[in-house]
Amino acid sequence: MTNQPLLVTDGLEKSFGGVVAARDISISVHAGETVAIIGANGAGKTTFVNMVTGYLTPSAGSISFRGRDITGLSPRQTARAGVRRSFQIAQIFPKLTALENIIIAEIAAEKESVGLTTPSLVRSRVEAGMALLARFGLESMAQRRTGTLPQGVRKQLDIAMAAVSNPEMILLDEPTSGVSADEKISMMDSVIAPLKSEKATVLFIEHDMDIVRRFADRVIAFYEGTILIDDGVDVVLNDAKVREFVIGGVYA
Ligand SMILES: Nc1ncnc2c1ncn2[C@@H]1O[C@H](COP(=O)(O)OP(=O)(O)O)[C@@H](O)[C@H]1O
Ligand SMILES: [Mg+2]
Repeated sequence: MTNQPLLVTDGLEKSFGGVVAARDISISVHAGETVAIIGANGAGKTTFVNMVTGYLTPSAGSISFRGRDITGLSPRQTARAGVRRSFQIAQIFPKLTALENIIIAEIAAEKESVGLTTPSLVRSRVEAGMALLARFGLESMAQRRTGTLPQGVRKQLDIAMAAVSNPEMILLDEPTSGVSADEKISMMDSVIAPLKSEKATVLFIEHDMDIVRRFADRVIAFYEGTILIDDGVDVVLNDAKVREFVIGGVYA
């Protein structure tokens, strides 16, 4: 048995014109970990997730997943390699129902989709879609048009859509943003539990340190495009620089 990391980024960098959004981002994540990424707005967190998931091509550095170089692959190719993501603003079709959104995500995730060409295929897709919605606690939302659903439910659905192919790794960009403070924990419970039951490795960007404490095994703090510290939850949340530059005294 080797103990090879699942994801390794080495010297990742992204600049936009003169702005260096991320610089020298080198991390390793092992299978099964749940890692929180913290950092002020503009620290480069989303840029990092965009590079790992193929939405941005790095200006420098490399990304490997299960030992395979995935640098510069498209989002679709990256997803097929086993790395999926959700978005800070849920990427769903607002005029379609939750179940229809899930079915579209399923079809999109397949290598050679057979689509919805026969009644029995439609039935089996509906069954699979309902089962997935149930895993994420969204069964009762199946027939609702998603545009009218609360933000938290839409974000849960976006995560469920990313999970259709049971990815080995999933990156969640601010899953609890826009979710009311008293609903954040239950919302995270209802997405983390089904991901973990399928043994997914999870990275999530989060601003609420109570959520970080509760769900993360490890924390990576970003500051002005670089990694300030990458360590266990207690070490990072008690670090003097993190408290000064990242948490800013909010987390006592
Ligand atoms: N597409 C882009 N074009 C130009 N600048 C960008 C782009 N995306 C991000 N940036 C800049 O890169 C920096 C990091 O942004 P981002 O990764 O979105 O931060 P975070 O997610 O930590 O809030 C910011 O200064 C932001 O303005
Ligand atoms: Mg962001």
